[in-house]
Amino acid sequence: MEVVIVADAAAQGELVASAVADLIARKPEALFGVATGSTPLPVYQALAAKVAAGQVDVGRLKVCQLDEYVGLPAGHPESYREVLKREVLAPLGIGDSAFLGPDGGAEDLPGACAAYEQQLADAGGVDLQLLGIGTDGHIGFNEPVSSLASRTRIKTLTERTRVDNARFFNGLDEVPRHVITQGIGTILQARHLVLLATGAGKAEAVAATVEGPVSSMVPASALQLHPHATVVVDEAAAQQLKLSDYYKATFASKPAWQGI
Ligand code: GLP
Repeated sequence: MEVVIVADAAAQGELVASAVADLIARKPEALFGVATGSTPLPVYQALAAKVAAGQVDVGRLKVCQLDEYVGLPAGHPESYREVLKREVLAPLGIGDSAFLGPDGGAEDLPGACAAYEQQLADAGGVDLQLLGIGTDGHIGFNEPVSSLASRTRIKTLTERTRVDNARFFNGLDEVPRHVITQGIGTILQARHLVLLATGAGKAEAVAATVEGPVSSMVPASALQLHPHATVVVDEAAAQQLKLSDYYKATFASKPAWQGI
């Protein structure tokens, strides 16, 4: 995988938004996989600035979700569908009809998971999937010991993830216990994976992902199996990487036009 160490979140946002803009220029009808969490916000802001400046035309772009809570009432402001409408679709000026996601309120949840897999396939597969990372190494909501071949399914959150996400709710009790998430096998089918991490709190998970063994204990380590995976981290999140000088030298010697 390619590891890019950037100065800060703003530089991360600019670099990754440029990669998304390049994709859209090459393939205007691309399917862009987005992630929730605080980490990707600078990417969405930088991309929205490019749209506002007329540098990027998202008129044919399709956007899809990585994961979703189960059981929140439709329209709940912390359902990932609503979060992504607020943070991605509205600033980019993309309508609901171009937005794919699993139905976390479905009565038949396994059916909703299978339907979402089918929707992604029918849309031609994900072109670029943004990923954050949990402090326990999860991607999407694939918690430790998730099958590396898993497809979209229902998962139970670990206590650690519920505590991490409690800041978005009025306390831990409100955080759902169950979720729907694209599986690791599903995520690995995207054509380009871009994992983002910032801050020292992610340093251990980043080092295990990039330099540790491929293991279901660290779901993000499955990115080592992908032919085009890019990990973009700030200095704090990179601090436990053993080969950081090598990653910096490699990226510095790349032609600027090549992107990630
Ligand atoms: C949640 C999401 C993940 C995200 C993670 C990290 O658990 N399901 O997709 O990567 O949060 O969030 P943050 O970027 O806020 O640290």
